[in-house]
Amino acid sequence: MKRLALVLCISGLALGAGVSFAGEEAIVLRDAPGRDLTLARCAICHSVDYIETNAPVLDRAGWEKTIRKMIDRYGAPISDADAREILDYLGAQYSATR
Ligand code: HEC
Repeated sequence: MKRLALVLCISGLALGAGVSFAGEEAIVLRDAPGRDLTLARCAICHSVDYIETNAPVLDRAGWEKTIRKMIDRYGAPISDADAREILDYLGAQYSATR
């Protein structure tokens, strides 16, 4: 009886560890120049999951429009220099026509 309880306990732990690992994966962006800036600027209002979700349909020009929309329509506090660096990062790492 004791042994059965122990087995149940261990499998419960393994399940818990799996779930938290998946949670961490979801917020990590690819490691490349511009990643930290993109995380800092683009996670102010929403999750950076938006970047992964839109990568299959946006090319570099699409990202340029999206970044402008964040700034002009939603008031994202991003300077022109930062916008360029973020565009280089997204164009290279998350572009459909890479
Ligand atoms: C000032 C707040 C704010 C910041 C900062 C911001 N966004 Fe957004 N973003 C929004 C809002 C509001 C929406 C639309 C509503 C929604 O779907 O949540 C949105 C939607 C999006 C979408 C979904 C597609 C679309 O065009 O609506 C993408 C992709 C996106 N943002 C990318 C970015 C990227 C990349 C950055 C960094 C350059 C960024 N966002 C920074 C507010 C922001």
